[in-house]
Amino acid sequence: MSKDIWISDILAGKYDGSEVEVKGWIYRSRGSNKIRFIVVRDSTGNIQCVAKRDVLGDVFFDELKSSLIESSVILKGIVQSTDREHGHELQVLSGEIIGPVNPERPFPITESAMAEADGGETEFLLDNRHLYLRTSRMTTMLKIRSSVFGAVHSYFRDRDFIEYQAPNFVAGAVEGGSTLFEVPYFGRKAYLTQSWQLYAEAAMPALERLYTIAPSFRAEKSRTRRHLTEFWHAEMEIAWASNNEVMKHGERLVRHISSTVLEERSDELSSLGRDLDLISQYADNPYPIIRYDEAIETLQGKGIDVEWGQDLDYSKEKILTADFEVPHFLTHYPRIAKPFYHRPDPEDPKYVLCHDLLAPEGYGEIIGGGERTWSEAEILERIDEEGTPREPYEFYIDTRRYGGVPHGGFGMGVDRVCTWLSGAEHIREVIPFPRDSRRVTP
Ligand code: 4AD
Ligand code: MG
Repeated sequence: MSKDIWISDILAGKYDGSEVEVKGWIYRSRGSNKIRFIVVRDSTGNIQCVAKRDVLGDVFFDELKSSLIESSVILKGIVQSTDREHGHELQVLSGEIIGPVNPERPFPITESAMAEADGGETEFLLDNRHLYLRTSRMTTMLKIRSSVFGAVHSYFRDRDFIEYQAPNFVAGAVEGGSTLFEVPYFGRKAYLTQSWQLYAEAAMPALERLYTIAPSFRAEKSRTRRHLTEFWHAEMEIAWASNNEVMKHGERLVRHISSTVLEERSDELSSLGRDLDLISQYADNPYPIIRYDEAIETLQGKGIDVEWGQDLDYSKEKILTADFEVPHFLTHYPRIAKPFYHRPDPEDPKYVLCHDLLAPEGYGEIIGGGERTWSEAEILERIDEEGTPREPYEFYIDTRRYGGVPHGGFGMGVDRVCTWLSGAEHIREVIPFPRDSRRVTP
């Protein structure tokens, strides 16, 4: 059984006057004992189907009339262009109910169920996430998300980067021990990886330009608008590159993603109420660079209680980025605020050659990256000063022992980029099954 006709093509007028077969799910049904107006949805759109008793006969008409929302159907009929809401409708001639919905268990997601849910609407929809995926808002988010993923691949592949996979079970931290997920591993301890980076650096002398999109894991205890425990991480690593060159890639990547979603998903973005002019600015305008120290001064100037040396948390980034018109890079964080792999600035080793890219409209960090500490002496010094044991990192130190070269890379939170570009309130709106400290189901 295949499907040849998509509702979006019917709505685009490709089948006016023709007989077609619509395959989809009942979205809404109303009418009388003689005529039913049944809105059918598929992955591309909704169409009103007009079913008449005198055309269909009693048996099928009654079956259709009693079919509940989310029953799957095949309806055959003639496409008619109308001046009503959807522009096109199907005059049904015959059909079949494929997957009926049991009247004892009607589709649970309804306005009244949401309003009455004990734990509130949000928890109710999270409990029913597997069914909520079918709603137009989630479908829209997932389509935008697909375009973002596609844009990441096309950006790197068009520039001859090699897609490379790292292990997800690892022996050490990349981004600090406090968010490590420990897993029992045959009598030993292993961790779920926080980042592909260290294993990408091992392959850097082999491939020179590499990237991935993969899940990363962080035991984030606090639940915020922008943290997941399992998130999708687009990362790149490049040999013979400085912090500035790595940043250029980050900027071009995010601009490419912005122009791709504009090109492929402007209808979806508009349906979410997103201002397309904003996204055009993200695609077209250069991203300014400011130093960490300037950001601290700006925040202090606004009366915010922040000390030099702290990594900036969300509350501070939110204030800082509220007035930004495009994403901004923040560079030169204090050495004490960043993990050992960041390269100290030879001009002032109080700082490291790193960058975060902060999205505007209060969204904050979407990219973290920089230049790597690349000589053996320097990496050992950084590991020791952090008090990190050397043992799990021997393979990493070897990368420097055998022909170290300047190199760098970044990681981009793909879910965060989707949240920002779609204008969502919360990161869980853009991923099919969000994971946080309280939820691993459904
Ligand atoms: O800034 P982070 O921690 O940097 C790294 O992991 C580097 N090792 C990446 C690299 O250089 N290859 O994480 C990178 C990005 C953040 O900017 C953020 O967008 C995203 O990953 N991120 C999260 N997204 C969702 N939920 C979380 N808990 C996230 N933690 C980080
Ligand atoms: Mg970061």
